[in-house]
Amino acid sequence: MNAEQPLLAVAGLSVRFKLPQGWVTALDNVGFDIRPGEVVGIVGESGSGKSQMLLSIMGLLASNGRATGSVRFRGTELLNRPMAELDHIRGSSLSMIFQDPMTSLNPYMRVSRQLTEVLTVHQGMSEAAALKAATEMLERVRIPEARRRISLYPHEFSGGMRQRVMIAMALLCKPALLLADEPTTALDVTVQAQILELMAELGRDLGTAIAIVTHDLGVIARLCDRVVVLYGGRIMEEGRIDDIFHDTRHPYTEGLLAATPRLDAATHGELLTIPGQPRAAMGDLPGCPFAPRCALKAEICDVTPPLKSGKEGHRLACHMREVRV
Ligand SMILES: Nc1ncnc2c1ncn2[C@@H]1O[C@H](COP(=O)(O)OP(=O)(O)O)[C@@H](O)[C@H]1O
Ligand SMILES: [Mg+2]
Repeated sequence: MNAEQPLLAVAGLSVRFKLPQGWVTALDNVGFDIRPGEVVGIVGESGSGKSQMLLSIMGLLASNGRATGSVRFRGTELLNRPMAELDHIRGSSLSMIFQDPMTSLNPYMRVSRQLTEVLTVHQGMSEAAALKAATEMLERVRIPEARRRISLYPHEFSGGMRQRVMIAMALLCKPALLLADEPTTALDVTVQAQILELMAELGRDLGTAIAIVTHDLGVIARLCDRVVVLYGGRIMEEGRIDDIFHDTRHPYTEGLLAATPRLDAATHGELLTIPGQPRAAMGDLPGCPFAPRCALKAEICDVTPPLKSGKEGHRLACHMREVRV
């Protein structure tokens, strides 16, 4: 593969859902690249389209959802491909971790079997070799007594340990890209950052690129190379971590950075201090989706702001601010 070629190239990606009253747009014309080995953070309030973006890349949208645009993985179009072809790519080069490990782990199957199946089916490994590799991976995600615990059932692990099992399973085939959708949100706050750091560390060791959705901006700042800020199904701003955190341009990004996450169980760390309600799925309305809550709002904001491109991959969709040049 050409080193310059992005691992994942998303272009003009839109996701719409059919409801009884018509179609709603959850993601509107989104585009970005992920390069090999890169760690990209995805942030935005609840409902901004983060999950649908990852799910559409994986071909896992709900049955009333339609994705249009292009998602190229190593140059191959993934969008709207037949399930069988996607299964092959998903099993070997592309993995996803969800918020709730029980959505991916089979409660009736020992962890050993769930882990080894990934290797025997996708890599044609023998049972013995697969068991050895799976045990080693459990050790790498720091599950104590991995040799013994590998034969337990998922419910015999604590929430944090289960999420470690998930990470082990997702990384077992050494995927080129891991999509992680708030993988630790259901866990104790003190455990969250620790597990995300472990995931990023393993990703680096294995050369796996990671796209991670999290509310924890501290984690993003520590672990990611770049960040994409989503709102109302559109990219508001994108750039290198230092630029976004220290030379913030978009009023929405400013709001996110100023907001202190409320880390109680009821809100799961949602950012609650930007005035107004986050905009949920909408029709294809013109204008900036953030305008109703924006202190800088002017007449021109009724016109959809173009996503301007600047220096070092900085991108900005705001009429009132300039992109870095
Ligand atoms: N199956 C569905 N049918 C209709 N709307 C949906 C469906 N799934 C998600 N949506 C809508 O898509 C929007 C984006 O959702 P999502 O990507 O889950 O947001 P988040 O950024 O919180 O992950 C939300 O407004 C949500 O209500
Ligand atoms: Mg989500």
